[in-house]
Amino acid sequence: MRCDTLWKDARVATMAGDGMGIVERGLVAASDGVIVYAGPEAEAPAFDPADIIGCDGRWITPGLIDCHTHLVHAGDRAREFEMRLDGASYEEIARAGGGIVSTMAATRAASEDELVAAALPRLDALIAEGVTTVEIKSGYGLDTAGEIRMLRAARRLGDERRVRVATTFLGAHALPPEYAGDADGYVAMVADTMLPEVARLGLADAVDAFCEGIGFTVQQTARIFDAAKHAGLPVKLHAEQLSNQHGAALAAGYAALSADHLEHLDDAGVAAMAGSGTVATLLPGAYYFMRETKLPPIEALRRAGVPIALATDCNPGTSPLTSLLLVMNMGATLFRLTVAECLVGVTRDAARALGLSDQIGTLEARKRCDLAIWDIEHPAELVYRMGYNPLHTRIWSGR
Ligand code: NIG
Ligand code: FE
Repeated sequence: MRCDTLWKDARVATMAGDGMGIVERGLVAASDGVIVYAGPEAEAPAFDPADIIGCDGRWITPGLIDCHTHLVHAGDRAREFEMRLDGASYEEIARAGGGIVSTMAATRAASEDELVAAALPRLDALIAEGVTTVEIKSGYGLDTAGEIRMLRAARRLGDERRVRVATTFLGAHALPPEYAGDADGYVAMVADTMLPEVARLGLADAVDAFCEGIGFTVQQTARIFDAAKHAGLPVKLHAEQLSNQHGAALAAGYAALSADHLEHLDDAGVAAMAGSGTVATLLPGAYYFMRETKLPPIEALRRAGVPIALATDCNPGTSPLTSLLLVMNMGATLFRLTVAECLVGVTRDAARALGLSDQIGTLEARKRCDLAIWDIEHPAELVYRMGYNPLHTRIWSGR
């Protein structure tokens, strides 16, 4: 059988099927950046590859997928962090004109080149840990030019590095000061002007909103979702992060790719998500950084069979985090997820949260050959350590 590169003498976690798809004596074969075989050596067809790479028993997993980030932004919010250490709450800071709006001001003042330059070190930190696909949201421009500039910067990051970038339009992230007191007016502008323009330019792969007391109501979110549907774009939602707004049920009703955060999700919300196909994307970095104490309803999500993804939520306000390995550790330690759930959450179910299950997330024939090769003895080590990176090699699209 034809293949150009073969990785052999490996232990493989294909992440295909239900669990981790563990193969003790495995190999991965690829042709033109696409997997032609991944599985047991003993069952592999005969290959005559140009390149044979011996893995000395190292573990191969799918390249990791960070399915929720705000990687593109200017400035930082270290000063607000200090204010929160002194007792101010995230909502108080936001209502006083800090928060998302302060990052908006810095982001509006930055050129596209500056946004790319600021994001590259963050992207490189993710890549250094085996990330091969990253989702990047807009949402700090909050005007048409600013949102478009952010999305162009996000797309450019995918040209600057060997990584797949999925972009998400998050125009309804916060109310910009020009629209103070007129949230409906802003939402109408996003739905009728900004979103169609972003879609026309092909700059977004999905549409997101922040459904929250300090964000937008369910009715306003529905308005955005209708516009997304009209533009042919899938939706996802920041839902139930700080309070229960019943956003996840709305998202599930729109067959959203994912509902994200979910600390305040109740039983009715879980029931609405069950069977909808909408992934629960949990963000333990934000939970940790906000010193949240209300856990997302993990056991109820599990029992309802809702797929669970994990992501960094990398953003300057609530999760200045660029380690998906640490996210897995937090998922296990803070949320009591199993090792398998953590690994599925940054591979198979993260792909699902991006609508990319047909291309990435597992090691199976016809998927992209995105691999992470690890210097470990057991997959649990990827979840167990904190601040240690056992990545040996990262392969993106077969190279
Ligand atoms: O995912 N919740 C809304 N958006 C971000 C926070 C953004 C910010 O504070 O800058 C989040 O937590
Ligand atoms: Fe977020």
